[in-house]
Formats: sequence, structure tokens, C-alpha cells
Amino acid sequence: MKEIFLKLFYTLLITTFISCPVSAEENKQIIKRLGFGSCLEQWNPQEIWKPMLSSKPDLFLWLGDNIYYDSYIAEEKKYYYQLLTNRKEYIELKKISRMLYTWDDHDFGINDSGAEYEDKINSQKIFLEAFEENKDSPRWKRPGIYDSYYFGLKGKRLQVIMLDTRYFRSELKRDWRKIFGIKRNVPNTDPGATVLGEAQWKWLGEELEKEADLRIIVSSIQLVNDFHPFEKWGNFPADKRKFFDLIAEKKAKRVIVLSGDRHMSELSVEKENTPYPIYDFTSSSFNKPFKFIDPEVSPKRIGKAIVEENFGTIDINWEDKYPFIDFKIISLGGKQEFSHRIKLKEIQ
Ligand SMILES: [Fe+2]
Repeated sequence: MKEIFLKLFYTLLITTFISCPVSAEENKQIIKRLGFGSCLEQWNPQEIWKPMLSSKPDLFLWLGDNIYYDSYIAEEKKYYYQLLTNRKEYIELKKISRMLYTWDDHDFGINDSGAEYEDKINSQKIFLEAFEENKDSPRWKRPGIYDSYYFGLKGKRLQVIMLDTRYFRSELKRDWRKIFGIKRNVPNTDPGATVLGEAQWKWLGEELEKEADLRIIVSSIQLVNDFHPFEKWGNFPADKRKFFDLIAEKKAKRVIVLSGDRHMSELSVEKENTPYPIYDFTSSSFNKPFKFIDPEVSPKRIGKAIVEENFGTIDINWEDKYPFIDFKIISLGGKQEFSHRIKLKEIQ
């Protein structure tokens, strides 16, 4: 009898252990300032480092296009990562801030690439090596570079979810109209057309069930703004809907989305058919501004769009009776281009 009981106990222990997702990083540090941005062109001047360093973020998120080297051979990207990670400002920032990374098209593969990029297995390995990914990280063990991280203690617990919007993304649909020489994207409504892919969706659902006082979901491409013909979740309307529905289904409070890619910055908010207002805070670019493109008119935008070189910050005031956060966009010389405050109780 005792033997059977013990056997049962061990089986239970082993199955519980195996079914547990690989543990995400836990860090007791309370995050008060988070910095983030995207689109760093290695051959352009990089004046943006100065204000980034002086803003001293506790955590800094790289949202993709961390280098620009489109190639069908991922190996060729190595050198360009080295140009970034050997820079003295990068080394300096790494001393100040815990840094987390995801990719966009130009570091993942080639312009606008997704699941069809043939050298993606190699590209993942090169990316993780370049940013010295911890050897225990689940990112070495599964396809795609999505992962989650936790900071702070109960009451001030920040969850950071880094999505991979490239590795599994179905092909873009395009029509004959061209915008700046590139065919414009149209919604892909094929059954099964996806941004995240099945495994990542399942994982995201499980992550949203975990406890957190604020959740930052990082997506390289924009979620909310649909009013432009470039890359966006809106190119995959079923997956975009699924994103909001999953937040509602999991009753996941206090979700904020960060995005890059656009070569302009803005704060957008979605209030229709969402459990609470979902903010999508975009910062792009560090140093590759498309100043000749006028930002589109977007009814979801709060305030103005910023086309100058910039990075974004989120200051979290955990101590207040009603904790609040400040969204800011900082440009060259430390100039504050944009600021907007919301209370956390508005997003639950
Ligand atoms: Fe970019």
C-alpha cells in the first residue's frame, strides 16, 4: 500500500514539474522607470544614446530593428550585432539598466518578413548569442524568441511579456497600390492567418493567468493604430480581435502594449470592444527618422505623433494612493516631446 502511495506521489510530482512552463525570470528589483525604443541604423549618427543614458531607466526594452541588415543568410547579421554590442554607450547602458530584447523584420530576416524566412532557426540562435541570452532561458529551447519576465514584489509586481511577431507570422497580403514604392498591405482574412502562431498564443494565455500588478506586452508592430497601410496587427484582423478577447477571457488587468517599427512615435488607445482602455505606446525610431512622411490621421491617437529621433519612457509611481504611470517620448538633447498620465485603476 505504502509503495503504491509513494509511486502515485512521485508520478504526481513529476507530471506537475513537467507540465509547469519553464520558469520565467524573477527579479526582486522594483521597476520605477522603464525605457524602450526601436529602429537603430548602425550607419546613422547615434545622438540618442546621450538622453537614453541620462534618463537612467531601471529596465530598457529593445523592440526590434535593433540592427539593419536584411539578408537571406542570418550568419551575415553577426557583424552588425557586434557593432551595436561593442559600442561604449551600449555597454554603459547595460550597466545601468536590465535590458530585454525582441526583434522586428530587419534583425529577424529581411524587410517585412515572417514565418516564410528560411534561415529563421539560425537567426534565432545568432540573436540570442548576440544579446548574451542566459543559458537557462526557454528561448534556447523553443522556436521563436517570445518570453516573459517578472520584476518587483507583491503590490509592485511588473510582468513583461516579449512577443515574437515575426517567427510565426503568416504572409502579408498586398494589392497593386504602392506606398513609397512598396505594395500596400491589405487584411489577410485566410483561415488560420496569424501573427503569433498556435504555440505562442497558448503560452500567452497561460502568462495572462499569472499574478501581476502591471503587465507590459511588447509587440514589435502596432496593435491599435489601423489607419496606415504598413505592418500592423490590423493586417491579421482575426488575431487582432483574439488579442483583446484573450485579455477579457483571462480577466487580465492592467495590460499596456508597447510597439515600435513605425519610424514615428505615438500613444494610441483602443476603447471599442475591449474590457478596459488598451493603450498602445509606440516609440520609433532611435535614429532612422522618415521625416518626409507625414504621420497619418488617427482617431485613436492621444496628442501628436513624433517623427524626430526618440525613445520612450514609462515612469511607474507605485507609491501613490492611486498608482499612476507617465508615458513620455524623449528626443535628441533630452527634449520631452510628449507626456501623458494615466491611473492604473483606469485600466482594469
Ligand atoms: Fe525599422
